[in-house]
Amino acid sequence: MRWIVLAGVTAALAALSPTLAATDEPLAATVAQGLSAITDPELAKADYVEHCAGCHGVQGLSAPAKLPELRGRVGYMMCTPATRAYLLRLPNIAKSRLSDNQQLADMLNFMVFGIGGQSVLPGTKPFTAHEVGFERQFALTSASLVAERKRHVETSIRQCGAPASFRDFYQPR
Ligand code: HEC
Repeated sequence: MRWIVLAGVTAALAALSPTLAATDEPLAATVAQGLSAITDPELAKADYVEHCAGCHGVQGLSAPAKLPELRGRVGYMMCTPATRAYLLRLPNIAKSRLSDNQQLADMLNFMVFGIGGQSVLPGTKPFTAHEVGFERQFALTSASLVAERKRHVETSIRQCGAPASFRDFYQPR
């Protein structure tokens, strides 16, 4: 099923961007589709910088701080309903001061497709205001965060194309 959807997206993008390299096409189409779902890209980036960059870095680079690095990695958490829900239930996200679900979805799509970029699986759908609004009702408590991350990292390795090093907070450089 995913391949059918993907073929449609790829075909649509190929029509728009005939210059894309054939091998990167499905991924590039997915990233482009994710970014184009953002209603106000400037605001999405500004919201990320204001609310998240203090800990995660403006570019999503935070190593060697003891928190998961987002750049080129956070997209690994996007491929199953449970891993997507984990992102939306993180306390800093679920309880964000951004009360408008579309504005929060926009910021998260910037995080996933802009900062996470190449780490999404082709065919990954952007967050919608509806999905964000539903999942944020079930905020995780800080007590459960470590165990929750472990669980979803294993799913991401099995099903979402994440490398084994995703178990660590950042790639060794
Ligand atoms: C006070 C510092 C701080 C702020 C501010 C913060 N985070 Fe985090 N974030 C963390 C820590 C610490 C973790 C690790 C939680 C854990 O133990 O799993 C984390 C985890 C995450 C993860 C999970 C990544 C993974 O690989 O498991 C995402 C995504 C994330 N934060 C996004 C955000 C976003 C988006 C914002 C802004 C709304 C934000 N964070 C604000 C400290 C912060």
